[in-house]
Amino acid sequence: MLIIGQFCSQCLCRDVVIEYSKKISALGNAILELLSEALGLDPPYLKELDCAEGLFLLGHYYPPCPEPELTMGTSKHTDRNFMTLLLQDQLGGLQILHENQWLNVPPVHGALLVNIGDLLQLITNDKFVSVYHRVLSNYDGPRVSVACFFVNSKDPDEASSKIYGPIKQLLSEENPPIYRDTSIAEFTAYSYEKGLDGNSVLERFKLSNDQI
Ligand code: OGA
Ligand code: NI
Repeated sequence: MLIIGQFCSQCLCRDVVIEYSKKISALGNAILELLSEALGLDPPYLKELDCAEGLFLLGHYYPPCPEPELTMGTSKHTDRNFMTLLLQDQLGGLQILHENQWLNVPPVHGALLVNIGDLLQLITNDKFVSVYHRVLSNYDGPRVSVACFFVNSKDPDEASSKIYGPIKQLLSEENPPIYRDTSIAEFTAYSYEKGLDGNSVLERFKLSNDQI
């Protein structure tokens, strides 16, 4: 895993990354408007909750692997932010877990993948669900992907203090809250503590677990 800034500091890439980030931010905000509407909320709702205030851009480089059956590119995980926009190259290898089966996500030229993250699942009280995914290693490599993670602030200190819980307008007697409120600081600390062990961090924030 490489952070893009580290391998293209002295070249045109820097400008490309800045330009790409701007376009991705605009697209992310447009998608959040549509997602807000899909939830029956005002279009700016999720944006106003700061779901796309900050953006982390991560460039992945997966070297060719002589024995792909012996290792994973990226192990099973859900993204722990609000939403991720992923650009993958033509090699493939990305899979999602659907009904207990790993399904390939074939690369489509010019298309980006929109991935719901755990925090969006938490605030929508499971209306939107984050999906398990992984990346297989590949004999024909290298494989390159660019993941843009939407988070709630550019400034980690400011981000940490913010509290999130299920959106009140989505709750009713039939839809009681599944999760308790949590600060980004607590959520992030627990995510790091847990690592990519293949289980969702959301279990920890379920009200049912809280009361045990
Ligand atoms: C991630 C991720 C997939 C890929 O960065 O969280 O799932 O194709 N990346 O590299
Ligand atoms: Ni991911």
